[in-house]
Parts: sequence; structure tokens; C-alpha cells
Amino acid sequence: MKELNPFITKGYVSKDLFCNRETELKILENNFNNNIDTTLISPRRMGKTGLIYRFFDLLNNKNGDFITIYADIFSSRSLEDFIKLLAEAILHYYPEKTFFGRKFLQIIKGFRPLISYDGITGEPQVSITYQTPQEKELTLRGLFDFFERQDKRVMLAIDEFQQITEYPEKNAEALLRTYIQQLNNVNFIFSGSKTTLMLDIFSNSKRPFFSMTQYLSLKKIDRKTYCDFIVRKFEENKRTIDDSTVNFILDWTLSHTYYTQVLCNRVFSSGRKNVDIQCAKKACAEILQQNEEIYLQYRQLLTAGQWNFLIAIAREERVTQLTAQNFLSKYGIGTPANARRLSKALIDKDLLLSESTVDSVYYQVYDVFFMRWLQEIYSFNFRKPSPESHS
Ligand SMILES: Nc1ncnc2c1ncn2[C@@H]1O[C@H](COP(=O)(O)OP(=O)(O)OP(=O)(O)O)[C@@H](O)[C@H]1O
Ligand SMILES: [Mg+2]
Repeated sequence: MKELNPFITKGYVSKDLFCNRETELKILENNFNNNIDTTLISPRRMGKTGLIYRFFDLLNNKNGDFITIYADIFSSRSLEDFIKLLAEAILHYYPEKTFFGRKFLQIIKGFRPLISYDGITGEPQVSITYQTPQEKELTLRGLFDFFERQDKRVMLAIDEFQQITEYPEKNAEALLRTYIQQLNNVNFIFSGSKTTLMLDIFSNSKRPFFSMTQYLSLKKIDRKTYCDFIVRKFEENKRTIDDSTVNFILDWTLSHTYYTQVLCNRVFSSGRKNVDIQCAKKACAEILQQNEEIYLQYRQLLTAGQWNFLIAIAREERVTQLTAQNFLSKYGIGTPANARRLSKALIDKDLLLSESTVDSVYYQVYDVFFMRWLQEIYSFNFRKPSPESHS
């Protein structure tokens, strides 16, 4: 039988292939048991979605009987899309042939939905036509009421929740809050990676969701724990990897979950019985080479000043003082105002990450592989740009 790669690079497979997160799981479980909703925040690819699935797995393996539903609303552009994605998520987890799925279909019949199944994936597709905005609100209310009436408790995770700020319906947030607040049988995890937007939704006293939830900020997996996990996964597959190689991997990926998983997956796939640092370095080079096309495209999309700024940040790896004189002059960035303008543009494009710690804010290139590529390409031949290329 073909050996399975134990380093997953998408979704969630099993507890076995999931590294730790015990503290976060306890918090989620405690919140669920005490009827507290959670706001789960982290930079992209840190493991929010994985954690939600892992938590569902934990709940479903307890004796308690729960309904767990995950809805990703990233692609929603309106309240109508929100309702559609929520209905589809329900049918995904509880298809027509299940008891819960049948009950759900009976309820939504009243809204005259058109339900079809994707020819290739088999995924349910729900389409509802509304005559008036009130009908939309009624449908949404109907969905939440349905959850409320179940005799099992419901855990509903709404991923990429910041998306609701883009809906054209001005009352979307207020409406959702009104319905959600009335629910006793349903607990929520609202998760998202746009920290500023998420914090604004939940911490701005002028907004409907103010103070409604408890925050859970997902950090990097503890280094020692990740190190042990990687070694164990190799050993379980009758292979070895030495500590210095694992340390090299975690340094290179900055211990950021997704990048670590991808690199370990690549190293594992080499088939080597005894993995050494050369093997890891080869995997790094392959990853960068594979992604090069994308990085070169980024360059087309950015101004010379923005590109230069990214290189500067990559070379420093992490910058706390974007407007410090020595940083500005070392890389020919220009004035502090220029640095602020460039950083804002790059943060908006998700190319630069700004992270807050207890006592400071730091900046780094968002995509760790991209950062490593920039470091490699521009390590020797960095040229200060000419003054006109600053903008
Ligand atoms: N604890 C973990 N152990 C092993 N792999 C993990 C763990 N958490 C997440 N992963 C893997 O890391 C990758 C990134 O995780 P995930 O997609 O959950 O991140 P995310 O924070 O939801 O990202 P995004 O904000 O882009 O949606 C995925 O491939 C996932 O399978
Ligand atoms: Mg996610």
C-alpha cells in the first residue's frame, strides 16, 4: 500500500495528523459548554480552519450529541449569498437522506428554494428567489429558528466572517446580531484573518457585535511541540530526521503552520529514509522554484517603490520601526510618509503582514516562501532605487 504523507497541506484529516492546539481546544470547548461565542483571529494560514475542524472532531467524539456546521462565507457578496452559503453548509453536513437534513428541507420548502447538486462534486446548491428584502430577512430568521428548535446543541462556525462588512445591505450586521442574540441553543465561532476588520466588528462600541464574543487569537504552534510532532511523524513511518534539520525547517518557515506543513510534506515526499539538512535545503529550493512564476507576476503588479520596499522588509525579515532613519536610508525608501504609504498599499494587497505583540508592532512579508525567495534573489545585488521610483 502506498505510504500516506503525514504532513497535510489542506483541510483537516484526523487528530493524528494535527499538531497540538490543546489549549485552544480547551478554550473552545469551555466556551461552548458555557454558551459563549468565540471570535477566532490569526494571520492567514496559521490554522484557524484546521482548528475548527479539529474542534468539531473532538465534539463529535464525545458522548454528547451535537450538530456541527462549518460555513465559509469568503465568496459571499451580500446577505442573499450568506443565506445561500449557510443553507448549503447545512445540506453538506446533513444531506437529504439524514434525519436532520430531511427536517431542514421541510422547513426551507416554505421559502421555495431550488436545490440542485453539482454534477462533479455532488455538493448541494441552493438558490432562493426573493420578492422583497423582507423575505430575505424572514428566510435568515427561519434558518436560525430552525437551529434553535433542535433538541441537540448546535455549533456553527462562520469562517471569513469579516466578509459581512462588504455586504451592500447596511443593516446586515445589526440583523445578524439581533437574530444571533436570541439563540440559546446555538453557539458560534466567528473566524477571520483580516485582524483590523475583525477587531472593528467585535470591539467597536458603535457596531452591533460589540463585546458579544470572547477572543481567541491563534498564535504559532510552540516550537518544541512542533519539533516533536515532526520527528514523531517521520519515526512513525520508519524514517529519521535529526534535530538540527527540524530546527532548520522551523527557522526557514518561521514556524508558520502552512509553510511548515508544505516544507515537511515536500521533505517527506523525497522518500529518503534518513532526512538530513541537505535534503531539507533541496526541498526549499524546489518550492521556491515552483512558485517563482507567481512571484515574478507580483512584481508586474507592483510599482518599483513597492517592490523595493518588500525587498527591504524581506532582507530584514522583521521590521519594527518602518520609519526609522537607518532603515529608510539603508534601502533608499525616502521619507517616513513614503514608508507609511508603501506599507499601507502592501498591507492592503496582503503582501505585507503587520502583527501586534504586547509591546510593539512588527512587519514582515506575509508569504514566508515569497520572503525567502526575495532574500535569495536580492541578497547580493540589492540596488537602491532612483528617487523617482518611490511611489
Ligand atoms: N495543528 C496543525 N497541525 C498540522 N497541520 C495544520 C494544523 N493547523 C493547520 N494545519 C494545516 O496548515 C494549513 C493552514 O491551515 P488553515 O487552512 O487551517 O489556516 P487558516 O488560518 O484557516 O488560513 P486562512 O486564513 O488562509 O483560511 C492547512 O494545510 C492545514 O491543514
Ligand atoms: Mg481558513
